[in-house]
Order: sequence, then structure tokens, then C-alpha cells
Amino acid sequence: MAALGVAALAPFASLLPRAARAQGAPPASVALRAAPARVAMLGDGQPVTSVWAYNGQVPGPVLRVAQGDVLRVRATNDLAEPTTIHWHGLRIPNAMDGVPGVTQRPIAAAGGTFDYAFACPDAGTFWYHPHLRGHVQVAMGLHGVLIVDEPEKPAVDRDVLWVLDDWRLTREGQVSAADFGAMFDASHAGRIGNTVTINGTLPDRVALAAGERLRLRLVNVANARVFALRFDGHAPWVVAHDGMPCAPYQPRRGRVVLGPGMRADLVLEAIGEPGAAFRVIDDFYPGQAYEVVTLAYGPDRLRTLGAPLTADLVRLPPNPVPEPDVANAERHVVTFTGGMMGGMGGGGMGGGMMGGGAVWAVNGVAMTDETHAHAPLLTLAQGRTHVIELRNQTAWFHPIHVHGHSFRILSRNGRPLPRRDLADTTLLAPRETAEIAFVADNPGDWMFHCHVLEHQATGMMATLRVA
Ligand code: C2O
Ligand code: CU
Repeated sequence: MAALGVAALAPFASLLPRAARAQGAPPASVALRAAPARVAMLGDGQPVTSVWAYNGQVPGPVLRVAQGDVLRVRATNDLAEPTTIHWHGLRIPNAMDGVPGVTQRPIAAAGGTFDYAFACPDAGTFWYHPHLRGHVQVAMGLHGVLIVDEPEKPAVDRDVLWVLDDWRLTREGQVSAADFGAMFDASHAGRIGNTVTINGTLPDRVALAAGERLRLRLVNVANARVFALRFDGHAPWVVAHDGMPCAPYQPRRGRVVLGPGMRADLVLEAIGEPGAAFRVIDDFYPGQAYEVVTLAYGPDRLRTLGAPLTADLVRLPPNPVPEPDVANAERHVVTFTGGMMGGMGGGGMGGGMMGGGAVWAVNGVAMTDETHAHAPLLTLAQGRTHVIELRNQTAWFHPIHVHGHSFRILSRNGRPLPRRDLADTTLLAPRETAEIAFVADNPGDWMFHCHVLEHQATGMMATLRVA
């Protein structure tokens, strides 16, 4: 087989969603129904797991729209408790953000509905999940991915999605519901589970053809588990964080770190030989490395490898995010405190149930109200650039998430970062400080919280008012 250069990899223009739709046709509406369901995530011959699911599947259906198009979703709640849907990472109007008590009324249990409709300004990998009792509802299986397609697809052979999840299952293969709200989890690293799934099933082998190029979309929907994926024998390029294209880079040791809520888009070239097998290892927690999945090469070669990929070949087109004017920014400091060994000193941090208890605080205030209504932590002048210094004064990792905006990460522990990646969630290491900057161009009250959902529920949550 002749070597095919990169230029031979034409973008698959005929597959563009935009081309598939007659011009002027109204965008389709999608129905998402949250309800109890039973799924065979553990495989054949294993117990079926009772979950809560969108449209009966975990993860929920992959929603896909072209950049700039309007997504219409009719949400129906057939759970026994109220819910909402939050569109994580999307820069959409506040009324569509899915936050109960702030942007909408909860969708009533047993048949309530809500219609979401918004244009998707940015291409990339996003996700959706409830924003009410998330530490239970997301853990029970309510989450799904929203892909917004670039007008020109990048030249890859396959667009592959890995939804990474983590479950705490009983020996009977059921979600361990007895310890939802356990104070021990809330005051430590959150509810870390015992079973990792990819796309809702136990991962085993992923088939690969020598020479092919994948766009691999990684989404961490776990309540609390941080993943650090290492691709043995490969050197993937990171081309986007949280849906936002970055200057492409090859992370050290091929290791991609994803806190809860975070996404990364990779371009992975299958540089192994036909028949070869390589491990993907998650080694985030010291001493607890495990194999997530095997990359198993088939017997055939899709193409002979040409020159190695370069940043220019894998770069995605930028999204229309306003560039922060850091020199003229308003500056703010936000301090996160609490947790075990964090000096909040609250009773019951070792045992018992949360029950509205506070474990964590943001600038000294612990917000634990389920319906998120709360005086804003900061009011940000609309249209201006704001730099927020995030100070993690705890002994724990926290993925800090801002709604309605994407920010640039300027520095960590006082050291300026060379790439200043865009993100909507950034993982703070214990005692770490980071500076983020964004133009507050989206008016409304926006949640600002830790995406370890047990931390969020016990105080690590606030609102930013843009006005
Ligand atoms: Cu994905 Cu407020 O969260
Ligand atoms: Cu946290």
C-alpha cells in the first residue's frame, strides 16, 4: 500500500451535519426523559444495574449540532424527585443554564417538563447533567454528551467518544445508595467508586487499525474521581480542553489529566504495528494505577505512516470567545477552605450524613442550599475583563467550574503558563493557587463551584453575578 501523506486525508465534508439538513429547515427538537432504568453495564451474565437514565441509556444520548445552530430539547422528568438539565461548558443565555432557584424552577417530579432552546456558539465537546442533588442524580447515571461540530471537520479517520465514569457498586452490582451523602466522602476526596466504565460499560479492548488517526473525545462525568490517562506506546496530541481548542501539545509521558466535569480532545495516531496491543493506564492516585483499557491493533494496516504529525496539522479552528484584556482587568481573590485537615472543624466530618451540613467554604461562606438561591459572591461588571485568583487552602483537589463563560488560565502558583489554555473547569491541586481571566460578557447569575459533587453539596459553591 502506498504511503498516504496527510494531504490525502480529506475532511469528510459530506458527513457534515449542516450539509445533511435541507437549507432553511428548522432545527430538530430532541426529547430527553429522565427516569429510572435498568442497564447491563457489567456485561453478559452479570447483574443488571438499576440506574436513573436519560431515554433509558447511560450515558444519555449523544446530542450533536452544527456550530451556531439552535439546540431544542424538551426535558421530561419521570423521576420521583425534581431535576433540571445544565449544559456544562456552553456559553448560552442564563435562562437556559438549568440551575434551580437561580435560572429556572425545578422540573417537577413525575411528569414535569421544561423546554430548553439555545444557539451553540462554540464547536467542541460539552456535556449535560442535572443541577439539583447532582451528587445523587449524576451518580445514578444522569449525564450525556453534547458535541458541537466545527463547520470543517478535522482530517481524522474516526471521531471517538469516551465517557469516563466511576461507580460505587455493591456486590450485587447495584449503585451503593446507602452512602449517598456520607460525610466521610464529602470531607475527603468525594465519592470515589470501585468500578470505572467507558460509555457505560466495563472497558476491555478498543480496536485500532495501524496508521489510522483518531479524534478521541474524553469526558469525565464522575462525581469525584480524577483520571490521568497514560497512552502506552503513543504520543497523543491534546487539541482542546473543555471544548475549547488550544495550541496543540503532546503532554509529558502522554498523560492527560481530567478532573470531574473536564474534557479533552486528543488526536491520536495509531503508530503501533498490526497485531500489537498497548495499555491505557490511569495512574492519578499514587499507588493505585490500573489498566483502563487495551488498545488492540487489528491485523491490517489502514495506511503507512508518513511524517509525524505536527501541531499545525492537528490544530482546530478557534471558537469566538472574547479575548481577556488582562492588563486592564478587575482583580478578585477567591479562597477555598475546609475539608478534613482544613480547619473548618465542623462536627461529623469523619462519619454520618451530610443533611445540609457545611464542610467547605468559598471566601468564608458555605452555600449548601439545594436550590442554589444565594447572594452573589462577586458582582462582575459586564463587558470587562476579570482576573480571579483561586486559592485552594485545603489539602484536597478541587475542579473549579464557572458557568456561562470560558476562562483563560494565566498562572499556577505564581508561575505564568505558556499556553494560557481556555477552559470552563480547572483542577486545583492541594494548596495550589491559579489565576483565571475572562470577559464577563454573559449577563446573569452564574454558578461557580467545585465539580466534586459532594464538595459542591457541602458548601463549595457560589454565584458570580454579571451585570
Ligand atoms: Cu457541570 Cu455547575 O456544573
Ligand atoms: Cu472540591
